[in-house]
Amino acid sequence: MKLSGKVALVTGTSPNIGGGIAQSLAAEGAAVACVDSRAENAADCARYIGSTGGRAIAITTDVTDERQVMSAVAAAREAFGGVDILVNNAAFFNRKGVLDMPLDDWQRQLAVILSGAFLFTKHVSKLMIEQKRGGSIINIISTAGHQGEPNNIAYCTGKSGLLNFTRSAAMELVGHGIRVNSLTPTATDPSESLERAARWGRQVKVSPALKHAFEPFRTKVPMLKLPSPSDYGRAAVFLASDDAGMITGIDLRVDAGAIARYWAWDPTSK
Ligand SMILES: NC(=O)c1ccc[n+]([C@@H]2O[C@H](COP(=O)([O-])OP(=O)(O)OC[C@H]3O[C@@H](n4cnc5c(N)ncnc54)[C@H](O)[C@@H]3O)[C@@H](O)[C@H]2O)c1
Repeated sequence: MKLSGKVALVTGTSPNIGGGIAQSLAAEGAAVACVDSRAENAADCARYIGSTGGRAIAITTDVTDERQVMSAVAAAREAFGGVDILVNNAAFFNRKGVLDMPLDDWQRQLAVILSGAFLFTKHVSKLMIEQKRGGSIINIISTAGHQGEPNNIAYCTGKSGLLNFTRSAAMELVGHGIRVNSLTPTATDPSESLERAARWGRQVKVSPALKHAFEPFRTKVPMLKLPSPSDYGRAAVFLASDDAGMITGIDLRVDAGAIARYWAWDPTSK
């Protein structure tokens, strides 16, 4: 087990990507604090990890509220004695463009993506420095943070901001043995998340329309198949583990080749 004795705090633990990453970290021996503003997403994730023999607690927290963030970090410390791994994953989607996005919507989406990562990095890093045993921070980006996508202005802006936040925090914290990296997912195959939601005891409706909705994405990535949350989970385990002990300030793309693709090449053409 690569993360025995470590404590991870993961934000945004829905059955999709955050839940998948939390489960992967727990499977490698980490105790996990599952943090979400939706109480059921924190609780179901923690309960499922517990039911599979892992150790986890649920913490309901809005990542944009500094007092709540400080309480969440204190709760993780109280339960598990500290924090060694932080995954800043909480975000939400609100597809609006520069011409029509209301200022409040823009500010709220940037607050969750950027201020949430800033606040958790600030307070978890202070604890890591006090613990004197280093740590690993992983910020979840998106391929939309690397490219210009129309009608998704706050999301694209926030995610690209998080890329350079990662490098800047990496430089500031390197002297404390804290490594800061990011992980870039892309359009994600929905099957595994639906299975996870069902395992969490939720009613899931699997419609053929959902699979169909991802087909245009699948045919544009060079591997011609989309990643699943467990693919991101394995990459997060790597970044969090001693295997990545000499790695800081990088972005690890788990995107089936999406960002590397020459823009004019159609991967379905032979
Ligand atoms: N789903 C994709 O295809 C995809 C692709 C690329 C990147 N990503 C990124 O992966 C991450 C997870 O995405 P997902 O698809 O699993 O999303 P999701 O909506 O399933 O999960 C996001 C979670 O964040 C929580 N959250 C939102 N606002 C919060 C707040 N203020 N405080 C605390 N928790 C809050 C939500 O309640 C939810 O549980 C995000 O950072 C997203 O940008 C997703």
